[in-house]
Amino acid sequence: MKSFKRTLVTTALPYANGPVHIGHLAGVYIPADIYVRYLRLKNEDVLFIGGSDEHGVPITIKAKKEGVSPQDIVDKYHKIIKDSFEKFGISFDIYSRTTSKTHTEVASKIFKKLYDEGKFIEQTTEQYYDEENRQFLADRYIMGTCPKCGYDKAYGDQCEHCGSAISPTELINPRSTISGNAPVLRKTKHWFLPLNDYEPWLKKWILEGHKEWKPNVYGQCKSWLDGSLQPRAVTRDLNWGIPVPIKGAEGKVLYVWFDAPIGYISATKDLTPDWEKYWKDPETRLIHFIGKDNIVFHCIIFPAILKAEGSYILPDNVPANEFLNLEGDKISTSRNWAVWLHEYLEDFSGKEDVLKYVLTANAPETKDNDFTWKDFQKRNNNELVAILGNFINRTLVLTQKYYEGVIPEPEVLNDEDKKTLAEITNLKALVEKSLDNFRFREALKEAMDLARLGNKYLADQEPWKTYKKDAERTKSIMYVSLQIAANLTIMMEPFLPFSMNKLRRLINLEKHDWCDLGLTDLLKPGHKINNPELLFEKIEDEAINAQIKKLQDTKKTNLLENSEVKQAKESCSYDDFSKMDIRTSTILEAELVPKTKKLMKLKVDTGIDKRTIVSGIAEYFKPKDIIGKQVLVLVNLEPRKLRGIESKGMILMEESGDGSLNFVVPEKKVKNGSEVR
Ligand code: 2FM
Ligand code: ZN
Repeated sequence: MKSFKRTLVTTALPYANGPVHIGHLAGVYIPADIYVRYLRLKNEDVLFIGGSDEHGVPITIKAKKEGVSPQDIVDKYHKIIKDSFEKFGISFDIYSRTTSKTHTEVASKIFKKLYDEGKFIEQTTEQYYDEENRQFLADRYIMGTCPKCGYDKAYGDQCEHCGSAISPTELINPRSTISGNAPVLRKTKHWFLPLNDYEPWLKKWILEGHKEWKPNVYGQCKSWLDGSLQPRAVTRDLNWGIPVPIKGAEGKVLYVWFDAPIGYISATKDLTPDWEKYWKDPETRLIHFIGKDNIVFHCIIFPAILKAEGSYILPDNVPANEFLNLEGDKISTSRNWAVWLHEYLEDFSGKEDVLKYVLTANAPETKDNDFTWKDFQKRNNNELVAILGNFINRTLVLTQKYYEGVIPEPEVLNDEDKKTLAEITNLKALVEKSLDNFRFREALKEAMDLARLGNKYLADQEPWKTYKKDAERTKSIMYVSLQIAANLTIMMEPFLPFSMNKLRRLINLEKHDWCDLGLTDLLKPGHKINNPELLFEKIEDEAINAQIKKLQDTKKTNLLENSEVKQAKESCSYDDFSKMDIRTSTILEAELVPKTKKLMKLKVDTGIDKRTIVSGIAEYFKPKDIIGKQVLVLVNLEPRKLRGIESKGMILMEESGDGSLNFVVPEKKVKNGSEVR
């Protein structure tokens, strides 16, 4: 294996058009943070780069939606994202943004160099143009009918109904989402990177040279490379982005996927004057942490750009993750179907490590995974509290009780003690191997095995029993347990940095390097530890139910917002309408119809008479809540029998998009029997 002098870790730059959510964290930022913390513990030379992606169509769409400028949008969300990463403890060396001056300079310079060296092809193509707003339309700004499934709200790049990728010119009846008008095709000039020229090189570099990449990453690259690569436009007609730095390109900007990955370079430049060492010296190992939707950009397009430029290194690995779903559904910013980091930090203040733990234990490393609040609670209560927290607590409490917090001097360690302590080194080797291969779930499980080992050791040795009859033996047991606790502060540090900081404080231990992991005298006899405190607390049902309710409310809102308004029915004559006799009435009695879910038997006063009506409202109302309510009743509907009960008339209800029902009521209470016309 090639040896490297330093590592440069980058994380996908999230679009600054919304806050970050658990999907981002599980896929990219938590694994990257664990990896970087691990390298730092090993005293390796490592830089950790992050930043906001502030250009491109996603930003302009959000700005339009909120009626503000793109700059307002990126200023707002960059701050939210940056602050929440900081609070959550993602330990970037820099969190930059692609609207920075340095970035414009770096991206423009790279474009210019490629342009001057003839690395682009210039091509004029026809693209949709909105004549009213005088602008070319990005694919997302065009809607029409999907040629594959007939869905009439398909976008110019994708149909969200059937999932097909489409190009704008394939849409039937295309319309601009800005003006609503049909767009026209107009010629426009752009610059393309001829990816096809790089195909043989890419094939050799990835398919032969990087067989060690994760199967999901290698597989996706292979399927791209097995098809034939086409030239890719690296410029766009848009008024938000980095202006194309050549004459004759007025009104055009760099394509966001040209500019964003270069953001890694400009952020490094803003961080250190030594930046070139990290980007141009082949002894630097470059690792991109990303989600699976970014694979082609980081494994094929960006490397081709860097190769064309000529002076940069290429990624050594791209450990992309699959997606995380939420309670069985795809996470979606636009549908607000997400657990937002900034909200989590408010709702679960002080529990940053819990989310890190759960999202690592359940990371979508090899396949899509699902986050549920119940699983979150279970992993906290049954793993963090019951395994790790419990071991630490028992060890610290007993040390306090038996020795007033002073580490005892063991006289002899028996074979069991020695075997247990030796196991720390074995686990260390396993964790290292997993982390070195970007298998974070496995690494976390192996690190937790040290706490499991500690619990088993305590249960087997039973110091609470030996204490009464064998003082020397008890000292050895507690000594061994305390060394395990001390080693946990190192082994768990990459995964649970806040909690290990607390644990170090509790046992009065300074921060140790990874190389000290396995030492069996991290806490020396005579060393005094502090009063015990709990590392983790149980999470009660109440907190979990509140989160589940929040999601249920989101679902309801979405249903209401997205429900289609039904087409109007055929027209009817006034005579038809006037045949209906609708009267204000009051509900006198209400009871559920036995053995049905939906039906309620009501007695109503229609002003004309008192009668029985059977109504399908039982799923939405309780009998006691509607007695005395004034409603509208169609009194001359033909009587019919429902479950053997004669129903005379019908109560008028409004039906919401989510299927729920509401009574239609007069604005103020009126006399029963008043006519509705
Ligand atoms: O997919 C996204 O959210 C992009 N903003 C990722 C960019 S990664 C990198 F190239 F900056
Ligand atoms: Zn479709």
